[in-house]
Amino acid sequence: MQSSDLDTFKAWFTGYSQTFHTDDAEDNKNIDLKVRHTSLVRENAVLIAGEEHPGDNNVLIAETAALFHDVGRFAQYATYKTFRDNISVNHGRLGAEILREKEVLASVALHEQELIINTVQFHNAFQVPSFEDQQNVLFLQLIRDADKLDIWRIFAEYYESPEYDQASAVGLGLPDRPDYSQKVLSCLHKEILASLSDLKTLNDFKLMQLSWVYDLSFRHSFRLLAERNLIREIASTLPQTEEIAGALAVVEEFVSEKSGLKRH
Ligand SMILES: [Fe+2]
Repeated sequence: MQSSDLDTFKAWFTGYSQTFHTDDAEDNKNIDLKVRHTSLVRENAVLIAGEEHPGDNNVLIAETAALFHDVGRFAQYATYKTFRDNISVNHGRLGAEILREKEVLASVALHEQELIINTVQFHNAFQVPSFEDQQNVLFLQLIRDADKLDIWRIFAEYYESPEYDQASAVGLGLPDRPDYSQKVLSCLHKEILASLSDLKTLNDFKLMQLSWVYDLSFRHSFRLLAERNLIREIASTLPQTEEIAGALAVVEEFVSEKSGLKRH
């Protein structure tokens, strides 16, 4: 693909996302949050692809997949007024359908269209599905890393902002109580992803987000995570108990080892 294709896609995305603005300030805050998220995931994807999967074409494909990864969010919000897939629709699958139906990617090679659409469709799957084509796996891992890095930023800001300033569709509606579940905490020690279905409180949700480090794929993603101090920012809003500190130490050790920043 050419960089002029990407310019056309960016213009399409801007026009498309703007059609979801309403005269309701709350709706617009939620829509704008996804527009800003998209642009920062694009930046992350370019940074990671530039380091890990270089080549002009690869970087263009990565940026296009990032541009469209959440394209399903707008129609999801318009219909259901939420970003929670479990009570509405799978926004990855919806995004892939929109790209196919509207033939947004028609100007680029067919196999590139498929790479981009598959990445959009599965970017939010619990785990990366298996693909015969290794390129599919690479781009999917790349966008999932780029996406997580920005989701951590959104939540670090969200947990610290006064309630009136929070975009309403961000939270999962879990109760903000002082307790947390041992099952979720234990995932941090086991170095595995925590499941949505085990979450009972907002603290569980924060712990689950910390467990996402175990799903990051690229060294450069770990570096960006460490540089931006996001783990510590989210952790600072958790109860300061000894067992949380212990689990956090495991997470931080994992990040510093994977980023290659650990001193021996
Ligand atoms: Fe998404």
